[in-house]
Amino acid sequence: MPSFPPGFLWGVSTASYQIEGAVHDDGRGPSIWDTFAHTPGRVRDGDTGDVACDHYHRWPQDVELLGELGVRAYRFSIAWPRVQPDGSGPVNPKGLDFYDSLVDGLLERGITPMPTLYHWDLPQATEDTGGWLNRDTAHRFAEYAAAVADRLGDRVTRWITLNEPIVHLAEGYAFGTHAPGRALMFEALPVAHHQLLGHGLAVRALRARGATEVMITNNCTPVLPAGPGPQDAAAAAVYDAFHNGLFLDPMLTGRYPELPGMSDAPFIRDGDLDVIRTPVDALGVNYYQPTRVGAPGAESPLPFEVLPIEGVPQTAFGWPVVPGGLFDLMVGLRDRYGAALPPIYITENGCSTDDVPDADGRVHDTARIDYLDGHLRALHRAIDSGVDVRGYFVWSLLDNFEWADGYSQRFGLVRVDYDTQRRTPKDSYAWLRSALAAQP
Ligand code: FCB
Repeated sequence: MPSFPPGFLWGVSTASYQIEGAVHDDGRGPSIWDTFAHTPGRVRDGDTGDVACDHYHRWPQDVELLGELGVRAYRFSIAWPRVQPDGSGPVNPKGLDFYDSLVDGLLERGITPMPTLYHWDLPQATEDTGGWLNRDTAHRFAEYAAAVADRLGDRVTRWITLNEPIVHLAEGYAFGTHAPGRALMFEALPVAHHQLLGHGLAVRALRARGATEVMITNNCTPVLPAGPGPQDAAAAAVYDAFHNGLFLDPMLTGRYPELPGMSDAPFIRDGDLDVIRTPVDALGVNYYQPTRVGAPGAESPLPFEVLPIEGVPQTAFGWPVVPGGLFDLMVGLRDRYGAALPPIYITENGCSTDDVPDADGRVHDTARIDYLDGHLRALHRAIDSGVDVRGYFVWSLLDNFEWADGYSQRFGLVRVDYDTQRRTPKDSYAWLRSALAAQP
């Protein structure tokens, strides 16, 4: 692997509902993912996050794994329903105790904690009052962010507000394939605005409590028109505006892109865009794959059609493996936003593989090594081309609960046997450890 700049922040990422389990421990309230996963037919094989990787109880072992891997940072998420079981009002100190200990455990090993405040596990009580369709949720989120920072802010100075608001909007509220399972199509658009408003308010609350580096994590994708014709180009532009522009433009330029349902939308109030544009110190980008888009068929409810990318390897999920897409994305963001683009951290990148342990229990996940190596080389080229990228986080440390796909997709550098909770570092873990040891 090429050498990255000195000080480049190497890390791995996880998320609360995907690994913690312990859904009833220490006063945690229900989240929308508890409700969704326990609704028959919503998650593959009826899987739930009730136990997951039991990280809530086994975190010291997982912190050991981080230490041995040699990462300098750990991105995890804080479960809002542990902190405020009813979504607002008094804080549950026991819920915060867990993160307090985790932060201390990380710092003892010289690992920088980089918590995400919201990785999709909304308190069910908040959903019951409208969830992100309700403007009030933005204010509740900022209060929750403040409460967490009041407790951890003496040791945590780098924060991520939201994870992938586009995916939460699309899968959770527009198509209904994720919690809270609402299929509102374009009626879901207020969810975009309220998440962004909550982000801006939280940035202000965190800064007021001494945060030195605050960012949001967006899922971004380079969009490839399916063919050379103008219809495909137009459809690709609309897709790009929804997936990338809807969350980046208002944050970085103070304006929403031209999109059906967004101009003069009644839910956008005077002053909101100033809050949303509150400067961030960095931008988190999750990259998995490019998206190929063509003109929609006559019957399509959407103004675009997402098409498969053929002729490239695929992950176990069936996602196309296109490392060069990460280079295109980085350079594309720099060209699009110029001086308005803050430094970038790749906050997630990785792949699911169908790996199984061999006879001696080892996991030879060469496809994951190839994936990571290819993407890191592409990222290095982007840095060489002048894009300001400050860090890279692998998704994920552990195999975990992959949302609507349950435990069927394994993304970990470390295998988890869900019957015994035994952790087995895969070949990719050993590969990354050696690669990191060779970095400046
Ligand atoms: C991202 C999510 C993360 C994980 C990966 C595979 O969209 O942020 O939680 O599920 O995909």
